[in-house]
Amino acid sequence: MNEKIKLLEQKIQEAKLGGGQEKIDAQHKKGKLTARERIHFLLDEGSFEEIGMLVQHRSRNFGLDKQTFLGDGVVTGYGTINGRLVYVFSQDFTVLGGSLAEAHAEKICRIMDLAMKNGAPVIGLNDSGGARIQEGVVSLAGYADIFYRNTLASGVIPQISAILGPCAGGAVYSPAITDFIMMVENTSYMFVTGPNVVKTVTHENVTSEELGGALTHASKSGVTHFTFANEIECIQGIKTLLSYIPQNCEEQPISLPYQPGDEIRPALNTIVPENPNQPYDMKEVIHQIVDEGSFFEVHKDYAENMVVGFARLAGRSIGIVANQPAYLAGVLDIKSSLKAARFVRFCDCFNIPLLVLEDVPGFLPGTDQEWNGIITNGAKLLYAFSEATVPRITVITRKAYGGAYDVMNSKHIGADMNYAWPTAEIAVMGAKGAAEIIFKNEIAAATDKEAKWKEKEKEYADMFANPYEAAARGFIDEVIIPEQTRIKLIRAFEMLQNKAEKLPRKKHGNIPL
Ligand code: HXC
Repeated sequence: MNEKIKLLEQKIQEAKLGGGQEKIDAQHKKGKLTARERIHFLLDEGSFEEIGMLVQHRSRNFGLDKQTFLGDGVVTGYGTINGRLVYVFSQDFTVLGGSLAEAHAEKICRIMDLAMKNGAPVIGLNDSGGARIQEGVVSLAGYADIFYRNTLASGVIPQISAILGPCAGGAVYSPAITDFIMMVENTSYMFVTGPNVVKTVTHENVTSEELGGALTHASKSGVTHFTFANEIECIQGIKTLLSYIPQNCEEQPISLPYQPGDEIRPALNTIVPENPNQPYDMKEVIHQIVDEGSFFEVHKDYAENMVVGFARLAGRSIGIVANQPAYLAGVLDIKSSLKAARFVRFCDCFNIPLLVLEDVPGFLPGTDQEWNGIITNGAKLLYAFSEATVPRITVITRKAYGGAYDVMNSKHIGADMNYAWPTAEIAVMGAKGAAEIIFKNEIAAATDKEAKWKEKEKEYADMFANPYEAAARGFIDEVIIPEQTRIKLIRAFEMLQNKAEKLPRKKHGNIPL
C-alpha cells in the first residue's frame, strides 16, 4: 500500500510542477504567477478541489508522444470565494505555452458543465498561445466545444475571464463571449493574430502592447472591462466583482447589512452648475448617492461619456448607467451606446436593479457616427432598456433632449420610477436650435433678428427647459430636491424589490446586432 501511495504522491508532485522548474522560473521572471499560484490567491484558503489532475493528451504528432504533462496545461476544479462556490480553470503557460488541445479543452468543458448543473460562476484564468498547433483540428474542435458552452451558459451563470498572458488565436474568443474580461498591464495581450502575422498581411509595424495590450483594449476597442497594474490586483478585482452579483440567474445578489442613518445629501444641491452649458462630474453625483466607497466602475477608460458600474444602495447591489457631462457633454454615440447596452443586459440577466442618471444633450451628429451605424448601435441601448425586467429607476439631473430622452430609461420604455431635479430640461432639443427652426419666418422678418431669436429662445426655454411639462403629463413621477435623491431611491428600490414582469412569450428577441 505504501508503495502505491508513494506512486500517487509522485504523480501529484509531478503534476504540480507543470512544465518544470525552469519554465516556472521563466514565468516568474516575466512578472507572472503560475497557474496554481493564481488559484491559491483567488480562492478561500484550503478550499480548492482539483479535478482532472492526471489527465494527459493523446496526441502522437510532431514529437508530442515525448512531451506529455500531467494535467495537460490547465488546472481545473472548484472552491469558494468568500464562502461562495465558484468553478475555476487556470491555464498553465509552462506546459506547451498553455496551448489548448483535446484533453485540455475536455477539462475546461467538464467544469463548465458542473457549473451549469450546480448554478455557480465560472472563472477562467487565461494564459495561452491558442490552439495547440501540433494537434490540428482536434484543438479547433476543443475551442468550439468551449465557445458553445460559453454561449449556453450566458445569462445562466456569471462567467469572468482574466487574461494573464499572451492570449492569441482561439484563446480570445471564449473570453469574448463571457460577461467580463480583466487584463493586466504589460503582461497580458489579446489578439486574433499577433504582430508578425499583422506585418505579413497588412505590412503594419505594431508591438504586442499597441496591438492588443491592456491599455489598448481598455480604451480603444473596449474588449476588456477592467485593467489592473498586476495579477494580485486583478485577482482582487474578480473577488470584488463577484460580491455584487448572484450565483446564477435564479438568485438575487447578496445584500450587505445596512444601518439606516441620515440619508440627506446636501452636497447634491450644488453639483449642477448655474450655467447649463458648464460640465460637472457625474461620478460626484454617484458617490453622493450610493453607500460610501461602494461604486465599482466597469469599462472606466472606454467611452467616458457614459459611466457604468456596480454599487450598493442601503446594502443592496445595483447597476448604474449614467451620462457623463464632463466628457463630450455626455453625448450618446456608438461606443457609449454599446457600453451601456451590454451592461444593462448583464444586470437584467442577473437580477441587478438599474439606476439611470441622465444628463444627455442628444445623439452625436456627423458622418463618422452615421456611417458607422449610430442608428443600429443606438437602437441596441433602446432595445436593452426596453426588454429589461429588473427594477429600473431614472433620475434626470439636467438635460434630457431628443431621442436620448426616450432611450435613457424613460417611462415610455418601461422604467418603473422617474425622478427629475428642478434643474432638468426635458425637450425635443435645446432652446436655441428649436427657436431657429420653429420661429424661422418670424426671426427672418424682424428688424433686429438677433433680439427676436433671443426672445423666441427664451419663450421655448420657459416652456420646456424645466421638468414641469413632463411632470404634468406623469412622465416624471416626482420633481425632487437633489439632496433627497438617496432616500427617495432607497425607498423606491425597496418598494420595487418584488417586481415580477414577464416579456411576451418568444424564442428570443432579435436585438439589432
Ligand atoms: C503549441 C505553443 C503554442 C501553440 C506557444 N507554444 N504557442 N505550442 N501551440 N499555439 C509553445 C512554444 O512553442 C514554446 O514551447 C512555449 O509554448 C512558449 O512559447 P514562446 O513562443 O517561447 O513564448 P513567448 O515568447 O512568450 O510567446 C508567446 C506567444 C507565441 C505570443 C503565445 O508563442 C505565439 O505567437 N504562439 C502562437 C500563437 C498563435 O498563432 N496561436 C494561434 C493558433 S491558431 P517551448 O517548448 O519552446 O518552450 C488558433 C485558432 C483557433 O488559435 C480559432 C478558434 C476560433
